[in-house]
Amino acid sequence: MTDRYAVIGNPIEQSKSPLIHTAFAQVTGQDIAYTKLLAPLGGFAAAVDVFRASGGRGMNVTAPFKLDAFAYATDLALSAQMAGAVNAMKFEGDRVLGENFDGVGLVRDVVHNLAFPVQGKRVLILGAGGATRGALLPLLAEQPAELVIVNRTVAKAQELAALAHQHQSGQVPVTGLGYEAVQGQFDVVLNASSSSLGAELPPLHPEVFAPGCLAYDLTYGKGLTPFLKLAQQAGVTRLADGVGMLAEQAAEAFAWWRGVRPYTAAVIATLTVPLV
Ligand code: ATR
Repeated sequence: MTDRYAVIGNPIEQSKSPLIHTAFAQVTGQDIAYTKLLAPLGGFAAAVDVFRASGGRGMNVTAPFKLDAFAYATDLALSAQMAGAVNAMKFEGDRVLGENFDGVGLVRDVVHNLAFPVQGKRVLILGAGGATRGALLPLLAEQPAELVIVNRTVAKAQELAALAHQHQSGQVPVTGLGYEAVQGQFDVVLNASSSSLGAELPPLHPEVFAPGCLAYDLTYGKGLTPFLKLAQQAGVTRLADGVGMLAEQAAEAFAWWRGVRPYTAAVIATLTVPLV
């Protein structure tokens, strides 16, 4: 019997998840149907209830429902607790398991797809919202030399640095700073702020990019964002957007649901928007 999955959001037309999961199902031989579900604002729980009652097995969750999904889940993975948001659900009887694969997807893309090891590197992450929260533990698990969180609202960066210290077993120094206080150069600079959604430039000094560094914008499909342009103008040649992260978080969800992890290269090639 065909197992049913869906991505839920509002709007939902733009979602690439059906394309990605249908491609994964084809290459892994899994018998699934994956659709888009538009839920009205305020109607998340009712829509998920209906999907579950009709035999749905799991869902991806996109804006603006990641916090609703966090509240809806009966069992939250540590990744979801850390991110404060759920982007994948698995339905098991009365239980709703909530996960967040964005952080692990990001790190997998950087370390495996882009072949850019983070171990021993100085890492700077821009923003102190949900995207950064979700990335903290997967990044720290790679044992960078240092992790600096930079945010316009300094208190939020400091809170996340404290949260990281509470949860990590290793001893990676984590600091939360304002943009003007960032010192030195970094091997990996990740834009996890929402600046690129509004084509805005974070107030970052171009001197932060170390020679040979990777500049990575977690946004997908916006081409050369102001952040990536800043990096390019500063001489950075390793530039990436979040297309690989998108594919990797989907692969994690697929593996969680189906027990088989698909290769992502073909999906990434299909979805890549040139950085121009
Ligand atoms: P998300 O869940 O996508 O991380 P969020 O929780 O709303 O979204 O957080 C957005 C982050 O992007 C915040 O850290 C925000 O900075 P402030 O906390 O100082 O507002 C950051 N951000 C948004 N626009 C930005 C810009 N133009 N420059 C730098 N940071 C920006």
